[in-house]
Amino acid sequence: MTPHARRRAALDRWLAELAPLWTPSPFCVARPAWCDTQPALAEALLALDDTTLAALSADDDAARAFLIPHLPLLADLPALIDLPERDAAPAPVSRPAWQYIPGRKAAQIDAFAAAVGAPRAPLVEWCAGKGHLGRRFLMAWGGEARALERNATLCREGEALSARAGLAQRFAVADVLAPESAASLAGAHAIALHACGDLHRRLIDLAGPAGAHALDVAPCCYPLGADDRYRPRGGDSALVLDRNALRLAVTETVTASPRLAAASERLSAWKLAFVGLREAHAPGVPYRTFKPTPAAWTQQGFAFFLQALAARENLPLDPKLDFAAADAAGWARHRAARRLQLPRLACRRAIEVWLLHDLALGLEGAGFEAELHRFCARTLTPRNVIVSARR
Ligand SMILES: C[S@@+](CC[C@H](N)C(=O)[O-])C[C@H]1O[C@@H](n2cnc3c(N)ncnc32)[C@H](O)[C@@H]1O
Repeated sequence: MTPHARRRAALDRWLAELAPLWTPSPFCVARPAWCDTQPALAEALLALDDTTLAALSADDDAARAFLIPHLPLLADLPALIDLPERDAAPAPVSRPAWQYIPGRKAAQIDAFAAAVGAPRAPLVEWCAGKGHLGRRFLMAWGGEARALERNATLCREGEALSARAGLAQRFAVADVLAPESAASLAGAHAIALHACGDLHRRLIDLAGPAGAHALDVAPCCYPLGADDRYRPRGGDSALVLDRNALRLAVTETVTASPRLAAASERLSAWKLAFVGLREAHAPGVPYRTFKPTPAAWTQQGFAFFLQALAARENLPLDPKLDFAAADAAGWARHRAARRLQLPRLACRRAIEVWLLHDLALGLEGAGFEAELHRFCARTLTPRNVIVSARR
């Protein structure tokens, strides 16, 4: 068994053991079944005041310390999700040429290039946007790069930027999911920063059969384009990850402005008011997702919002409905869900690290030497891991 297989197997067991805690979202199921098997934990969570809840929600280590007395298995988590950090010298480049990229993105690109180092073969940038990443490599180490991007406008803008910098970067308006994209990988060093869901899975699946020489990809947005059940790349696994689990892997604690955070809380409470009425109308029917609600509905107040959503979702409302009581019930459910969500959030990085190990195993199975490493702090981007493969 390779180290990646061993780690994935350990994560399999850990995640299976804790599955009752992370499979049902308390935003969908008012009282997840674990509340009955772990009543002391449920009670402790529901008793949290707003300040403590905010502190625990913003600090994974503090949340884990709070949960460990009830869930001793969480003590094993740091070792299971630990990934090495690439100790890299900054990639050489003169700053002024770089200033046209927003600060955070530039810092991510800098860190990615430094962690990967000089290309091993002509570069192919997968889902390149304007090709900033590829250009960063060329500025540091020269050579040539090809950028594959579906959006023709981004390609044109990227071409203008590389012409201005005098770099050998060519763009192709291309759908990387189309069969012909495989040919571009032959003998190439493929790079991708934040290729969403099936875009990074496609690259990883193709790299071996298409004859790529090397690959460095920072995956993100795992649920995008995913099947109902994630198909493991690294051999059989007892773990079944559905789209909700993939969504959990990339759920971030909202760090928006107080105004945006308040608006997001209100929206959640109002949706839960609707969900509560829907459950009362059809008891026992499992939770069903619904399309996003237009911002205009929220601006018109709770009664309008509820009536509009109920009309769209074919939920008959009682003409004598007490809107104030429904609003209060939605808020109560929202507050409880935020608290009962903490154990679930504690498991999210384990799912992401499992997925990363599975991708690495897929590449090993295709004949590469694979490696996983962090290329920057989570504060710069939470999707901060590179899956690296070399022939
Ligand atoms: C999240 S952005 C990442 C862009 C760039 N790598 C970055 O980090 O800024 C994803 C990019 O993939 C492109 N894209 C989406 N689907 C694609 C497809 N099927 N083929 C090629 N490009 C695609 C989008 O147009 C977008 O520019």
